[in-house]
Amino acid sequence: MHSSKALPDLSGRRVVVPGGTGAVGEGVVRSYLAAGADVVVPTRTQERAEEFRRVLGDAATDRLHLVVHDYTTFAGAEQLAEEMERRLGGVDDVVAPIGGWWGGKRLWEIDESDWQSAFVGLAAAHVAVLRAFLPRLNARGAYTVIVGDSAVTPVPGSGLVSMEQAALLMMRQVAAAETAGQQRVFALVLGPVRTRLADSGDPELVSAEQVGAVAVAASAAAAVSGLEIRLRSEADADEALAMLQGDQPATTGAVVAASTMEPKDGRRKDLLAVLAELAPQIRAEPGCLHYSVHGPRGAADGPLLIIQKFASIEAFTQHSASVADQIPRIAALLAKPPVPPTLYEPVL
Ligand SMILES: NC(=O)c1ccc[n+]([C@@H]2O[C@H](COP(=O)([O-])OP(=O)(O)OC[C@H]3O[C@@H](n4cnc5c(N)ncnc54)[C@H](OP(=O)(O)O)[C@@H]3O)[C@@H](O)[C@H]2O)c1
Repeated sequence: MHSSKALPDLSGRRVVVPGGTGAVGEGVVRSYLAAGADVVVPTRTQERAEEFRRVLGDAATDRLHLVVHDYTTFAGAEQLAEEMERRLGGVDDVVAPIGGWWGGKRLWEIDESDWQSAFVGLAAAHVAVLRAFLPRLNARGAYTVIVGDSAVTPVPGSGLVSMEQAALLMMRQVAAAETAGQQRVFALVLGPVRTRLADSGDPELVSAEQVGAVAVAASAAAAVSGLEIRLRSEADADEALAMLQGDQPATTGAVVAASTMEPKDGRRKDLLAVLAELAPQIRAEPGCLHYSVHGPRGAADGPLLIIQKFASIEAFTQHSASVADQIPRIAALLAKPPVPPTLYEPVL
């Protein structure tokens, strides 16, 4: 059942939604407007701007800023970011539902122009927007890229879409690793969406406005460091909202892993260096909500406490597999052999 919880209040937040005029983008724009944010929707043509204003009807308040501008090139995105800083005094969040569908050819049937438009053009537009805006975002904000299930499932005849969307998922992971937890970078991975352009009438499918509500919740969830969130159904959207709004049911969902490490004499600095090297990669993992390392208060020596939070037990298992090859390196610096972390789940 769709959560009836009100959207968080994002009054005063400045959100840029490139691709906002599209089928999914409409739901994103409506949700941020309903949450009280100022919403900038750049669009490449005046015609599309006018059509989108008509689509929004009464929802197009004075907090909607439709800007005719080509944001899909490096120079164009950079100009837009500079212009928004000048006009709005800064940007807090970006949601990028840029793109569309392409199909009809197997990989060996595509030509240069298919490759340029369905892969290069779309991937370049996403990278252009990310490189212009991510370094400028306010620390409380979030960068959210929107992709489809085809990023993780090959779709015969639409391979270029699958390849491009998979590249965007890795773009999110790289951005999260490179900002080392200083910026919150999300990906929403969608199944078929009920939109103004295609509504199968299946009430179980996620709607464009539910996608928007999850993006709004990600913006508001300052304690969540960035995640990949699957939204195939309305139930997925409710679960994501519960997790982002911090009211996960007691028996499901997030897992906290706590472990201590006792360094060998004189090796604490080396151990910290290894953990610091691994931190960006761990924080960028799709299900990692939190990763921190602590020492005894007021002491420059002593054991280290590692606290990690993952969105699910599956995400934690995946994490354990991805760091398994680092265990010997860490074990060589410990006074006692490492033990698996103790796992905790919410009880209240
Ligand atoms: N619709 C679905 O059911 C669905 C399902 C799963 C995933 N998704 C994902 O959601 C994202 C948005 O999809 P959508 O269905 O909303 O697409 P859409 O209706 O085609 O809208 C995409 C928007 O992106 C902008 N754009 C910029 N460069 C573009 C280019 N080279 N080609 C096409 N559009 C370009 C356009 O805005 P301007 O022309 O105004 O600049 C357009 O309005 C995509 O990543 C898609 O894979 C959608």
